[in-house]
Amino acid sequence: MAELIDGRSCAEELRTSVSDHVSDLKINHAITPGLAVVLVGEDPASQVYVRNKKKQTIETGMKSYDYHLDENVGERQLLDLIDELNSDPHVHGILVQLPLPDSIDSHAVINAIDPMKDVDGFHLRNVGLLSTGNANLVPCTPLGCMMLLKRTCEKLSGMNSVVVGRSNIVGKPMAALLLAENCTVTIGHSRTKNLPDVCREADILVAAVGRAEMITGEWVKPGAVVIDVGINRIDGKHGKTRLVGDVEFESVSMVASAITPVPGGVGPMTIACLLRNTVQAACAINNLPFNL
Ligand code: GUN
Repeated sequence: MAELIDGRSCAEELRTSVSDHVSDLKINHAITPGLAVVLVGEDPASQVYVRNKKKQTIETGMKSYDYHLDENVGERQLLDLIDELNSDPHVHGILVQLPLPDSIDSHAVINAIDPMKDVDGFHLRNVGLLSTGNANLVPCTPLGCMMLLKRTCEKLSGMNSVVVGRSNIVGKPMAALLLAENCTVTIGHSRTKNLPDVCREADILVAAVGRAEMITGEWVKPGAVVIDVGINRIDGKHGKTRLVGDVEFESVSMVASAITPVPGGVGPMTIACLLRNTVQAACAINNLPFNL
């Protein structure tokens, strides 16, 4: 039976370190890190994320600035808000919740954010820095996955890793982080031939496809470490719904040596990493050292 990788406790430790860093910035440098979160429209899942981000930002002693725009907002108006936040000295991190409505060009919006304040790590400059081995601000979910892997794996160098999913938010930056740790990296996706065979080669398997319980025990090499990024709501018993990952926990946990549960694995790490990135940005903007 696989060891459970406890994302909740790891996230709690990270939040404590972030709080300590924030206290130091306030006391010794008169700086209160500030995070601006921009939400467009009424997507219920996005509203839940944004509420959690706000709560945890405040709990760690930082300032939270929230902007909720109507789903019919014009792209120009959104770009004007970004400009305003870019020049606001109280704001050290800017996050625009995705997805944006189809009428808005997400790339234009993301690339309008000052790269120094891009706590999502989605700006082309930060993507380029990560993929050339000079990472600055790194996307929160892959960063959280990498922190969990470093705690779990004795060594990463030379390991066969397979990332299933090629999104800009998770799959691609995850692959770049694994490569930076000297893993051999394969990205599998919906067009990959014999995906189960590819997955079975992995010492480290990261599932980020967004398809409930797609990866079963037969796809997993005995002893592999499995990181499940998926958060899928499916029908459960008695007319209720339940959350499951992209991995079928029951069968995979019989084969893997370690696995992240859903919920309680990668999920809690994502927001903790966002808070971490906000402190990193506040330090960089003020030419102060940062080491979390
Ligand atoms: N939507 C889903 N995940 C994310 C994320 O990490 N950042 C932003 N901005 N939007 C998201």
